[in-house]
Amino acid sequence: MTNESGENPIQTEGDIVTCRKLIRNVTSAAGFGMTDVTRIVTAVSELARNVYVHSGSEGVMRWQILDKPGQIGIQLEFEDFGVGIPDINQAVEAGFTTAGSMGMGLSGVKRLMDSMTIKSDVDMGTTVSITKWGRAK
Ligand SMILES: Nc1ncnc2c1ncn2[C@@H]1O[C@H](COP(=O)(O)OP(=O)(O)OP(=O)(O)O)[C@@H](O)[C@H]1O
Ligand SMILES: [Mg+2]
Repeated sequence: MTNESGENPIQTEGDIVTCRKLIRNVTSAAGFGMTDVTRIVTAVSELARNVYVHSGSEGVMRWQILDKPGQIGIQLEFEDFGVGIPDINQAVEAGFTTAGSMGMGLSGVKRLMDSMTIKSDVDMGTTVSITKWGRAK
């Protein structure tokens, strides 16, 4: 029996690894196929790293297993209380970065998930929510 929801702090680089492992276990136990597990873990990696690298604050990852007849789902939220994103549309564009990085994180996550929504206020923080559905076995 697995928990249906939970959370994990994002404060250290090690927390990114912990988030990845946690969500790998949770999604496997929930019955997601291997390909979807990999997609979801990749998204977790990118979003947890964004909190760690860009926000300048601590954050938290919250997760919840979703249930619909014949389907399994997961919703994840990455919340921080940092610098915020001034232009969300620009941030989601492939190749946009303020950190001399690849700028492929958010656009990649959007592609891998069924939905991604971003709420952000400058100097208040950022919340990125993602959802992924799979077929129940
Ligand atoms: N939690 C966050 N707080 C503040 N700014 C953020 C946050 N997440 C993303 N951003 C902003 O959005 C930009 C784009 O993010 P994205 O993940 O797509 O690219 P990146 O992190 O710069 O590079 P990559 O993920 O490819 O290494 C970042 O450069 C940063 O300016
Ligand atoms: Mg990134």
